[in-house]
Amino acid sequence: MVLRKSLFFAAVASLYSGGRAVDNGLAVTPQMGWDNWNSFGCAVSETLLLNTAQLIVDYGLKDLGYHYVILDDCWSAGRDASNNNSLIADPTKFPNGMKAVADAVHALGLGFGMYSSAGKYTCGGYAGSQGFETVDANTFASWGVDYLKYDNCYNQGQAGNQLISYTRQVVSDYSMMQANHARYATMANALNETGRPILYSLCNWGEDYPWNWGSTIANSWRITGDVYDSWDEPDARCPCDGPDAWNCGLPGFHCSVTNIMNKASFVVSKAQPGAWNDLDMLEVGNGAMSDAEYVAHFSLWAAVKSPLILGNDIRVITPADLALLSNPAVIAVNQDPSGSSAARKWLYATNGTDAYGGASIQLWSGNLKSTTGGDQNDVVVVLINGNNDTTVMNATLADIFVDNGPAGTAAQVKMSWEVRDLWANRMSDAEAQAIITASSAAGNATTGYNATRVGAGRYNATKTSYAEGLANNDPLLLGKVSTTVQPSGTIIATVDPHGAAMFRLRALPTGKKDEL
Ligand code: GAL
Repeated sequence: MVLRKSLFFAAVASLYSGGRAVDNGLAVTPQMGWDNWNSFGCAVSETLLLNTAQLIVDYGLKDLGYHYVILDDCWSAGRDASNNNSLIADPTKFPNGMKAVADAVHALGLGFGMYSSAGKYTCGGYAGSQGFETVDANTFASWGVDYLKYDNCYNQGQAGNQLISYTRQVVSDYSMMQANHARYATMANALNETGRPILYSLCNWGEDYPWNWGSTIANSWRITGDVYDSWDEPDARCPCDGPDAWNCGLPGFHCSVTNIMNKASFVVSKAQPGAWNDLDMLEVGNGAMSDAEYVAHFSLWAAVKSPLILGNDIRVITPADLALLSNPAVIAVNQDPSGSSAARKWLYATNGTDAYGGASIQLWSGNLKSTTGGDQNDVVVVLINGNNDTTVMNATLADIFVDNGPAGTAAQVKMSWEVRDLWANRMSDAEAQAIITASSAAGNATTGYNATRVGAGRYNATKTSYAEGLANNDPLLLGKVSTTVQPSGTIIATVDPHGAAMFRLRALPTGKKDEL
């Protein structure tokens, strides 16, 4: 009995310790890519994936770092009893089989992702992987899969606290946990045992606090129910809105960008290299938000180190959306080598007319690796305007550096900072249109599109990583100098309704240093 108890506590301690991230060497910076779900749902096919993959190359999105092409739910036709119960790719949607898709994606220099669920069925009602973890992991590896998004539907009640979510069965003998009888951990082990590095993306919607245990087995974990193409539309199906919604028992779906930002604000410290809070796929380009709202959505996802997974139909991307998603100065914040998330420093309710307690304005900031060669970090600052009107917003150095010392006492508050606007150099719509036109001008027999080398002046992270580019002070990554903020000063920005201003602060040499 005593032994049992101590084993139990040992197991619990190892689950809860946070520990270091899963050691598969992947997602050292947040993963980037495209997933079909937000714009296509179950309408998946080989043609869709390969056309999209080609466009990701043609439009320079691959060069910017969007690497994984991820096939979401609804791809299978059940299990093959005569072949070890392995999953079968739907022959109508994938006439050449899944390995052919993976090979074609790889031939473009991209990674291939797939989806399953830690339940009896997937959310779309297709065969799930619970109880078939090893056979499915082996199938994925044999097809050449590089990424698994692992969902939470039809888990047969095996959720409700951290151990149950983590464990596959409610075990009567706690020592069984040492043998890895675990729902999400079973798949982690099965993936590891294939010997193929497969990025592991948990999708249990923030249920059972995955930020506490996800880092021990996975590269990222969703923190909320499904995102919706809406800035702040309240929806009863995504409960727990507002600034105190950290403990949401029902993740739901139809979660607005504002709702997800609130939920993210509590768990930012859990992000670390190899293990990230996933705020869900991007809605940029799906048409229901304004350009300013998409700017704020993208800025915030980048600053908190969420995976950046495109969720739009790339075949009909607008120039404005291509320009937005191609901003290397913002992506460089997401891919910063220090891998620490920005945090919300304040949120003030305003007299705006938005639902759910009125509109709010917010300041987020956090450390970035220094690009000045000094020992002082760069800093990212994001001001978000939830008001329905253009708003002049202020970020004081005292608030930005509150973690370094309260009430303006931080040494950094007494310094001067170069302020660089990270949206100032957004590509023009005309430039983005030229890329789109050149790429889709003439049909290519396989994809319907012509691969076109994208123009100079765009960042190519496949040649020079963001870490290197930042170390070299590549101007494409540093935005545009907009002003200098003096000691104890304030950054002032005029922010669009539901929009964001985003800055990189770089330390200016102090007078003292000059004298030395
Ligand atoms: C949801 C998941 C979505 C999508 C969908 C597929 O549970 O959160 O991102 O994968 O299932 O059915």
